[in-house]
Amino acid sequence: METQTRIVVMVSGGGSNLQAILDAAADGRLPAEVVAVVSDRSDAYALQRAAVAGVPSVHVGPHAGEARADYDARLADIVAGFAPDLVVLAGWMRILTTAFLGWFPDGVINLHPARPGELPGTHAIERAWEQARAGERTSTGVMVHLVPDEGVDDGPVLATEDVPILPDDDLDALAARMRAVEHRLLVDTIRRLCQQRSKKESPV
Ligand code: GRF
Repeated sequence: METQTRIVVMVSGGGSNLQAILDAAADGRLPAEVVAVVSDRSDAYALQRAAVAGVPSVHVGPHAGEARADYDARLADIVAGFAPDLVVLAGWMRILTTAFLGWFPDGVINLHPARPGELPGTHAIERAWEQARAGERTSTGVMVHLVPDEGVDDGPVLATEDVPILPDDDLDALAARMRAVEHRLLVDTIRRLCQQRSKKESPV
């Protein structure tokens, strides 16, 4: 039997990608268990999704005046307490420093709604759509990458897929197409990582 991979999902917002992971774990498409959902925002709808799925969730908000490294160390301590094999940033909106990342070498992945090297930071879908309207591009993309350091939406690419921007797309239409690709690409990538992990652990 395949070993279950323990996943902590970190979120700041709606959590549609979290939902995709929860659904895939529940119906057996992922040999994984979401052991916790962690949010930096108490009002993240993703926390309700965790509650509905019966997954423990924690709100870890930064204290007023807290140094980034102190917050990250506190966060790492909490996340490490769930003993994850994999930490998935799925709409996590804070930059993480080595005070966090150093605890999970090669163990943190991020989803970004743009192709590698393009449109880092927030509002990547809006910016791609505006560039398309200005005649500067006809497609954008999605990527999943490892997070080795503080680089924003940058790191060794695990998966990427192009997404067309159609001439009559409004922002909602493009966002919906992007979401569908994100959900599939993220789940497929996590499955691959789970399988690699399982192979490493099984005796020869
Ligand atoms: C996604 O577009 C993800 O790529 C980006 O933040 C968004 C999160 O969406 N990092 P959701 O909260 O999973 O619906």
